[in-house]
This record gives sequence, C-alpha cells and structure tokens, in this order.
Amino acid sequence: MADNQDHSFSLGRCELGVATAATQIEGGDADTNWHHWADVPGHIADGSTPRRAADHWNRVSEDIGLLKQLGIKHYRMGLEWARIEPAPGEFDDLALEHYVDELTQLSDAGITPLVTLHHFNNPWWFEQEGAFLKRGCLAVFSRYVNYVVQRLHPLVKDWITINEPNVYATKSYSEGGWPPGHKSMKEVLSVMQHLAQAHIEAYRTIHEIDDEASVGVAMHLRVFQAANRANPLNQAAARLAPYLFQDALMQAMSFGMFLPPLHQPLGVPIHRYYDFQGINYYSRSTVTGLADGVAPGVPVNDMGWEIFPPGLTAIIQKVSHSYPGPIFITENGTPDAADAYRPLFIYDHLKAAVESGAPVRRFYHWCFTDNWEWADGEGPRFGLVGLDYETQKRTPRGSASFYSDIIAHEGVTNDAYQRWVAGCEYPR
Ligand code: FCB
Repeated sequence: MADNQDHSFSLGRCELGVATAATQIEGGDADTNWHHWADVPGHIADGSTPRRAADHWNRVSEDIGLLKQLGIKHYRMGLEWARIEPAPGEFDDLALEHYVDELTQLSDAGITPLVTLHHFNNPWWFEQEGAFLKRGCLAVFSRYVNYVVQRLHPLVKDWITINEPNVYATKSYSEGGWPPGHKSMKEVLSVMQHLAQAHIEAYRTIHEIDDEASVGVAMHLRVFQAANRANPLNQAAARLAPYLFQDALMQAMSFGMFLPPLHQPLGVPIHRYYDFQGINYYSRSTVTGLADGVAPGVPVNDMGWEIFPPGLTAIIQKVSHSYPGPIFITENGTPDAADAYRPLFIYDHLKAAVESGAPVRRFYHWCFTDNWEWADGEGPRFGLVGLDYETQKRTPRGSASFYSDIIAHEGVTNDAYQRWVAGCEYPR
C-alpha cells in the first residue's frame, strides 16, 4: 500500500548481478553425475533431467541479449567440467571454445563474468573414480583448473573455485538424496577435507597463472536457532550445527587452518587463500538436532524454506569480522512461481546487505532465468525471467523490471518501492 514513508536506499559500492550454474541451465547430454542420477526413476521430484533445462548452450546470444536489455552488468556463470574434459586428461577444445565465445560476447556487451569452476557437477568418469572422496581428486581437479584458467584468464578476472562445498558434501554423502546417494558422516568429513585442499590448490594455481585474478569460494551460509530455547540439547545443536556445517570448513578453505574434525594436511601453510568471501544466503534453520528444520508460523517460500532477511545481516557481519576483505553475495533469491513476493524478498535482502556496514561489493540474484533445480527438477521457479520449458520462451517477470530499475538508479527509489514492493506479502 502507498504510504508517506521514504523506503529508498542507495547501493553505495555494491554492484548487482545475476547468477546461474552450468548444469542447471545449459541442457544437452553432458556426461555428468547429475545426468546419470536423474535417469534413475524416483531421484528427481518431477522425473525431469538436466537435458532440457533452459537450453542455454544453444541460446547463449539470446540470453546475453536479455541481460543487456535488463541493464545487468555482472553475470555469474558456471562451466560444465564434463564437457571440457570428457575423459580423464583428454580435453575438448571445442567445448572450451564455446565458453571463450560466450565470454567474448559478454565482454562485448559490457558484462563482467564471475566464473564457477565446480558447482555440484562432476564428469561421470570422475564420479566413478570416487570424486572428492578420494585423495587423487586433488591432482585431477588441479589439472582441470590449470587447463581452463590458462585459456580463459584473458577473459575472466573473478573466479569461484567451488560452489557450496558444505551443501555438496552433506546432500551427496549424508542425506543420500543427491548423487552418489551415500549416507555416511565419515564420508562427509573426508569430502570436506578434500574440497578444502582442492580449493587451496586451485587458489594457488589461478594466482600462478594470473596474479591479478580474484578468487573465492561461494559458501552456503545459514543462521541457526534452537527450536526450543529452554532445551539444552536444542541449544547445543544450534551451536554445533553451524560449526560442523560451515565454520570449520570455511576456516580451512580461507586460511588453511584445519581444526577438528578436519585435519591439518602436509604442505598447506596457514595463509590467506581468498580474495573475496562469497556468501550464498537463503534461509534460517530451526534445529532440535543436526537435521534441518523450519519453525512453525514463519514466512516461507514456495519450497517451504523460511524467509528471514535479518539472517543475511548477521551472516555478513560475522563473515566480515572473521574474514577481512570484500564480500560478494554470490547467491540470494527465492522460488516464487507467481512472482508475488520476490520483489519484497529482493528489497529486504539487498537492504540488509548494503546496510550491513560491511564491504559488500557484489550481490548476485539467484537466478537469472528459471532453471533445473537439482533433485527438485523443473518445479521451483527462481528466475527473474520466467521460462516455458516446452517452448523455451523467456518472459521477464515484474521482478526483472524491478531489478533493472535498481541497477539503473543505483539503488531503490521510493517510486520503485511503491510500484513493485509495497503490495507484496510473504506467504506463511
Ligand atoms: C543453492 C545452489 C544453487 C541453487 C540454489 C537454489 O544451494 O548453489 O545451485 O540450487 O541453491
């Protein structure tokens, strides 16, 4: 509802972008862990596979045209490792040339890329070798990173080595719902250990090739609260869960400081292994034990995740305190098929980020278009731009116009607030 208050704020030094991931948008038959996983009935909620997705592989120019039309200047994109290295040590130059072409088109459009090297997507041969469960992953990942960065560094300055190592480790090795579907706490820890070492090696490799590159991890960070504050077990869980799920790993990746349950590897000195901290923020967990939970009666999105903007402020301040340097919000967004509350979600979270008092320099909305949401398939609608999967027609939602307007004005104007945000309400 229109009111007389001033709801405007300026972005200051924070620049806006949108984020995507290769397996979620490209489509096609890349031979990944997810292609194989999705072929087994029952693994994906709606039975879809990543073969359709947003057909971005064939629509790169159209999508870049859309970015340009919306005035978006920063684009986070991923590479499909399985396309680039279809067999161990055998690289497909044509696949890499496809990305060279995409990055050249972005550059011609005045759009700065932020490139993710690993986003839950393993080549099938690597998955079969045990992926990040096995120590041998370090040499294999390093070889891939070296090959890619040698060729792409003239076009890319900003790199994310690994997306959400904590989510990948837990969903794939303890919850059993993501490939390879294991349920072992021991494996989670060994995957976390190797991912941290893989990041550190990748950080070094990228800097050896390009000392001006800027490198970080996109870490999934949540806030935790005890379901019942009077219950000491719930309280202990709310303290232990963040340590195990995010803090120990983040410290290992950022400083090479491996605290239990991780262990200090040989040849990894304590040092700063990040140029920016990437934060993916979506929600708060209300816990009784180590399993995730949502408190009753709170605002929730289409997937039932709590909508909790103050959590972003808390996370940013905590990260900024422990890890000095620039912060990129590498993902933030919500599934909202009706686009009924996404503008309010963007408003609340963006405001939390720019008013946090910390050096938040980038904010990437997840996602640019609707996309294949892993085990949830084609159902959740995260896009600023809506996608008809049958026709592949892209239709910018109201939120896209709002986002575009924020970019154009370097902040949210009062007019924009009244037009897009005032009428929104979070579902409960
Ligand atoms: C994050 C993932 C991203 C997307 C969003 C909704 O955990 O990094 O690929 O699935 O969640």
